[in-house]
Amino acid sequence: MRLWGGRFEGGPADALTRLSVSVHFDWRLVPYDLLASRAHARVLNRAGLLADDELARMLAAIDDLEEACKSGAFRPTVADEDVHTALERGLLERLGSLGGKLRAGRSRNDQIATDLRLYLRDHVRTIVSRLVELETALMSQAEQHAETAAPGMTHLQHAQPVSFGHQLLAHVHPLTRDIERLRDWDKRAAISPLGSGALAGSSLPLDPQAVAAELGFDAAAANSMDAVADRDFAAEFLFCAAMIGIHLSRLGEEIVLWASQEFRWIEMDDAYSTGSSIMPQKKNPDVAELARGKSGRLIGSLMTLLTTLKGLPLTYNRDLQEDKEPVFDAVDTLLLVLPAVSGLVSTMRVNTAKLETSASDGFALATDLAELLVRKGVAFRDAHEAVGHLVVWCQVNDKEFGELTDEELAKVSPHFGGDVRDVLSVPGALAARKAYGGTAPDRVRDQLDTLRETVDAQAAWATGA
Ligand code: ARG
Repeated sequence: MRLWGGRFEGGPADALTRLSVSVHFDWRLVPYDLLASRAHARVLNRAGLLADDELARMLAAIDDLEEACKSGAFRPTVADEDVHTALERGLLERLGSLGGKLRAGRSRNDQIATDLRLYLRDHVRTIVSRLVELETALMSQAEQHAETAAPGMTHLQHAQPVSFGHQLLAHVHPLTRDIERLRDWDKRAAISPLGSGALAGSSLPLDPQAVAAELGFDAAAANSMDAVADRDFAAEFLFCAAMIGIHLSRLGEEIVLWASQEFRWIEMDDAYSTGSSIMPQKKNPDVAELARGKSGRLIGSLMTLLTTLKGLPLTYNRDLQEDKEPVFDAVDTLLLVLPAVSGLVSTMRVNTAKLETSASDGFALATDLAELLVRKGVAFRDAHEAVGHLVVWCQVNDKEFGELTDEELAKVSPHFGGDVRDVLSVPGALAARKAYGGTAPDRVRDQLDTLRETVDAQAAWATGA
């Protein structure tokens, strides 16, 4: 069952057939190919190329074929090169020669470009819904831990105390950007290639704009050659997916650290952790590790497609068939990883006591001390120096800031008085960072309020609500 046998005397070599076949992966485009077929049938009817009764029989056959595909009663065979070929066979089986009318004015080149756009626009909405669930899981943990002090880090070294809620929300913002990127992507993806035919449009009186509207696109492609050659939408989607992968890998890495014996910031729920086949005591963060690991294949998919596209002449080239597996793999990967990470985050128990006792470790209040001196008129440079001396003095004498007597403080620098102890409180240090964007628990709650509005709008976009 080939769509192009007319001018050939012999059949294709097995090696060619095996190389060329794509139906084993493009079969998932069935619903989108049939959607486009319905729109095309209607446009042929309006053009006077398909009689009303023919249209009715065609649409009924398409419905029947869709059911048969869903139930598995109709399956592609190895002889079907691709999804378009298989579905045309399905129509021929149902309609006889009428089934062959649908191909008028249409080529697999504009069909496949249309199918992939329809598929992606649909699946992007599902991905956004899964991202919203992760945002929501992080936000509800953040809400519970707005007041929980944690050691904020730079260079993976204790730097300044932060609200643990602030840190959790720092993982939400990248996800909101990922979703906004996808929403923006959707504007460029909402262009219909159908009507472009093989590359030059059709001599038949089709109506690409009407077809575009029927398929939910914003417009028809303005240039038929660009329409069949363009895979920017696929590459751009893969960039968005890779960026999501990178964000998940950074969150995953943090969770791996938090769950470690060294940190003990969180305890993972049994349902989202794994054991060891040899070490009975182990509880492993495999979900977080797979989230981190899967980012590799998402980046790889982007590279695969960009490399395929580079240097391709206009218009359609069979190389473009290589667009689908990376795209499908990226969609599958995200839909696999996101629910697991959301579950891990929403069920993890935060070890508040451990976070709070370590929040001030490593002289994390040193900056607060220096800023106290600045408020008393000392130049920051001198304040920095004085506090640096104090840190060394404490390390040599095995003391924390809080254990210093007035006498010891005065010995290190005349700038230090008993008021030093006023700023040596972790809650005080958090509350003091109350400017917009800071880690003060009040600001974290404001941040949550704003994020909730953003996330609600994103959730509504995904479901078309
Ligand atoms: N399976 C092909 C693809 O995925 C469909 C288009 C084939 N077009 C062609 N002229 N051979 O790109």
